[in-house]
Amino acid sequence: MKEIDWSNLSFAYIKTDYNVRIYYRNGQWGEQEICSEETIPMHMAAACLHYGQEAFEGLKAFRGKDGKIRIFRLEENAARLQSTCRGIMMPELSTEMFREAVIKAVKLNERFIPPYESGASLYIRPLLIGTTAQVGVKPATEYLFVVFVTPVGPYFKGGFAATPYLITRKYDRSAPLGTGIYKVGGNYAASLRAGHEAHSAGYSAEFYLDAKEKKYIDECGAANFFGIKNNTYVTPLSTSILPSITNKSLMQLAEDMGMKVERRPIPEEELSTFEEAGACGTAAVISPILRIDDPENNHSYILAKDGKPGPICTKLYNKLRAIQYGDEPDTYGWVTVFE
Ligand code: PLP
Ligand code: COI
Repeated sequence: MKEIDWSNLSFAYIKTDYNVRIYYRNGQWGEQEICSEETIPMHMAAACLHYGQEAFEGLKAFRGKDGKIRIFRLEENAARLQSTCRGIMMPELSTEMFREAVIKAVKLNERFIPPYESGASLYIRPLLIGTTAQVGVKPATEYLFVVFVTPVGPYFKGGFAATPYLITRKYDRSAPLGTGIYKVGGNYAASLRAGHEAHSAGYSAEFYLDAKEKKYIDECGAANFFGIKNNTYVTPLSTSILPSITNKSLMQLAEDMGMKVERRPIPEEELSTFEEAGACGTAAVISPILRIDDPENNHSYILAKDGKPGPICTKLYNKLRAIQYGDEPDTYGWVTVFE
């Protein structure tokens, strides 16, 4: 293979050797298959193409200083995929099937796991699609589950740095009783225009308020929001955001660092009270927020006073990364380790 420049990877697709596939036919999941083909032959009337019966996940494997491979919280991703399956009427995969497929895909592509020193990782992308040829709007009867992997560097070019976000009132990514809590492609399609406008104006991502009242904070692009003040970690409670596994982990770490944790609706005005804030997700872990602009109200909330990531964001980021890479013991049982 062409030499990979591990330290300069971006968050992009690079071809690896194998992917793992499992087909659902006649009411049951089949055996795991190993595939070296990157494409999926599909009927043009497949349910996923027309009616968006599609779900995905995103998790990472890390190479430690000790040479071991660690996958972060894969059971949580399995559980979230199961929840998504219930949400859009797809057959669930057991946690065991999910685990085996993920581990297999990582092991088969071991040579693509970036070395410890690079600070990069192997992104794992499980994908589930309805493949039945149909034109009626109804759940498919046949499905394909694929797990592929690709080595990635930082999600944002600058790495761990404070960057600006843009409040959008023109678009919603999801409705209060819609599919925002599930990881389905439609939510991301709904976010593309807002994301494009934010990026074109020089922002890291768009920032959503709740769709119903436009009063409370929902998400920052494809990441959860948290704010820090008075030794408290505050994150939105909302029926239209994705339950982030990174956020769940950070809440635990914050609590164990002696902070209070609050999950509750956060009114937009409260943004002016936070000492620091971040966007969190698998891809970036924490992306500290510099400021959040609300041009429609001619207002700007400054969240990194000296332009740099705050001390608590930095501490949480370092702690979570240390657990992921195996620099610190995994006292929570979050990591699947193998040679
Ligand atoms: N919110 C959205 C919309 C996402 O796409 C993601 C990414 O997966 C997250 C939040 C963060 O979730 P996680 O921490 O599980 O990666
Ligand atoms: C994340 O992992 O934080 C993401 O937002 C994934 C994104 C590429 C969909």
